[in-house]
Amino acid sequence: MKVNQAEFIISAVGPSQYPPDALPEIALAGRSNVGKSSLINRMIQRKNLARTSSQPGKTQQLNYYKINSDLFFVDLPGYGYARVSKSKREIWGKFIEEYLLHREYLKLVLLVIDLRHPPSKDDQAMYSWLKHHGVPVCVVTTKADKITKGHWQKHVKIVKETLQFDKSDHFVLFSSELGLGKDELWSIIEQTIGY
Ligand code: GTP
Ligand code: MG
Repeated sequence: MKVNQAEFIISAVGPSQYPPDALPEIALAGRSNVGKSSLINRMIQRKNLARTSSQPGKTQQLNYYKINSDLFFVDLPGYGYARVSKSKREIWGKFIEEYLLHREYLKLVLLVIDLRHPPSKDDQAMYSWLKHHGVPVCVVTTKADKITKGHWQKHVKIVKETLQFDKSDHFVLFSSELGLGKDELWSIIEQTIGY
């Protein structure tokens, strides 16, 4: 897909704020600081449209980015960030859960995982929860540039084993720094939305 236009639409804190456009939505899930916003920026070749920070837990709403008139990227709040109160975390959890289970325009969840480390308990729980509920998911392992190329496949294997990865799901090796995996991920998205 050629990205001609990419714009931030809204930070939605509830369903009444979801855009009414009836476009397919591609959501990004993953722990705080894993690189969700950076991945969006790389996909649309913009330095900082999706807000990134070295401070985890900054994205606390559903951030909608409209790409051409074709789709939305929906940047979800990162999970597993300890420095917010438990009650607040649970409210976010419910809100995200509602979105993931009931949003009719949601076509695919990109579950973003750090290639360097075995998936955390939260990553494992998220993947199996999505599978259990039949939510379409593509696993994207990012920050590949932080590992030497010769070790990529070893890490991919660990990620897949730890997640009990389902071979019928898509899996993409990614680096926002290098642009690695960008074309492959676009073709998965295009295929998913029938572009
Ligand atoms: P939250 O919004 O807090 O949940 O974080 P996030 O998942 O959106 O992470 P973000 O994109 O803000 O990236 C966190 C940090 O990781 C930033 O310092 C990024 O520059 C860095 N980062 C993200 N992706 C990559 C990558 O592929 N390679 C390298 N080297 N750094 C990355
Ligand atoms: Mg973010």
